[in-house]
Amino acid sequence: MLSEQQIVDALRPIQEPSLHKSLVEVGAIKEIKINGSYVSLKVALSNLGTPEQVGVQNQIIQAVKAAGAETVGLRFAELTSENQQQGSPAKGTGDALLSKDSKTVFIAVTSGKGGVGKSTVTVNLATALARQGKRVGVIDADIYGFSVPDMMGIDSRPQVVGEVIYPVERKGVKVMSMGFFVEDNAPVIWRGPMLGKMLRNFFSEVHWGELDYMILDLPPGTGDVALDVHQMLPESKEIIVTTPHSTAAFVAARAGSMALKTNHEILGVVENMSYYQLPDGTKDCIFGQGGGEKLADVLDTELIAQIPLGQPVKEQDETATALYTEGTLIGDIYSQLAKKVMQKVVIPSS
Ligand SMILES: Nc1ncnc2c1ncn2[C@@H]1O[C@H](COP(=O)(O)OP(=O)(O)OP(=O)(O)O)[C@@H](O)[C@H]1O
Ligand SMILES: [Mg+2]
Repeated sequence: MLSEQQIVDALRPIQEPSLHKSLVEVGAIKEIKINGSYVSLKVALSNLGTPEQVGVQNQIIQAVKAAGAETVGLRFAELTSENQQQGSPAKGTGDALLSKDSKTVFIAVTSGKGGVGKSTVTVNLATALARQGKRVGVIDADIYGFSVPDMMGIDSRPQVVGEVIYPVERKGVKVMSMGFFVEDNAPVIWRGPMLGKMLRNFFSEVHWGELDYMILDLPPGTGDVALDVHQMLPESKEIIVTTPHSTAAFVAARAGSMALKTNHEILGVVENMSYYQLPDGTKDCIFGQGGGEKLADVLDTELIAQIPLGQPVKEQDETATALYTEGTLIGDIYSQLAKKVMQKVVIPSS
């Protein structure tokens, strides 16, 4: 069986990317747990969400596997200041996307309640906009509950060249997610302020290139991440997702009033799981009726889509679990939604 000492020895040659000293020397190895051939590690770095983190992650996994582990679980934490006296912060690639000159339109997809379909709406709106020829990015801002990579069928990781992270591209959409930085679907156990940092790095350390639309999939509710997004992106637009049930709409109104308070323009309400369409064309409103309309009224905005219940039809070799293809009932509704969004937010000509 592997010993803790063997793991420490294996990690010793690996450097903390900003401090240029051994991870072991700077006290970055916060936890080692060994369970048979499964090794779980907690490693603290001075800068998270950077290209260097991806590099170091790969080095750690290789080293621990070379020492005899079969599976490596890896969690990252932030290295506290006493660990990094001689450290200099990693160089960023600029906050181009967040700068005042940026022409990218940000659209945050929010809801009051979980499970109403924010992520589904995000990935389908993004791919539908890409089908219309738009340059689109997606940030999976649900740091704890990331689901975008799986929903879009992404199993690759971002490419890192020098100090730059290149987002993963799928169906014409550039994607960044916390899921790319987590091994084996391990849970992310971070405190509030670190989430904001991670999110900021998704903008500043990632080479997005020119984008027309950046869609953000937010975690449910009005918590820390939603607040961070409001602060980071004062110009962001919002789409509020609800189900037709009146309680869901009532809770979603809270997310909506937060948008209004922070002067985020609400593009509209998307009512998801609106009805089930029977083969004869009639609509069965399984989850009630009117929630989306009511919410749009309360928020003084428009109901911009009603999306029925239905599973995506998967073509052969398709790994995406949540993408509705064009030519299907729901796929076409998303195409309509994309067109509506394009009418509502005209891209400034470059
Ligand atoms: N129109 C629909 N018809 C059938 N299933 C749907 C529909 N929309 C979403 N779903 C399913 O409902 C579940 C929740 O959707 P999704 O993950 O998009 O919600 P969410 O609001 O992002 O959730 P969370 O708050 O957990 O992030 C998923 O399993 C998704 O596949
Ligand atoms: Mg989600």
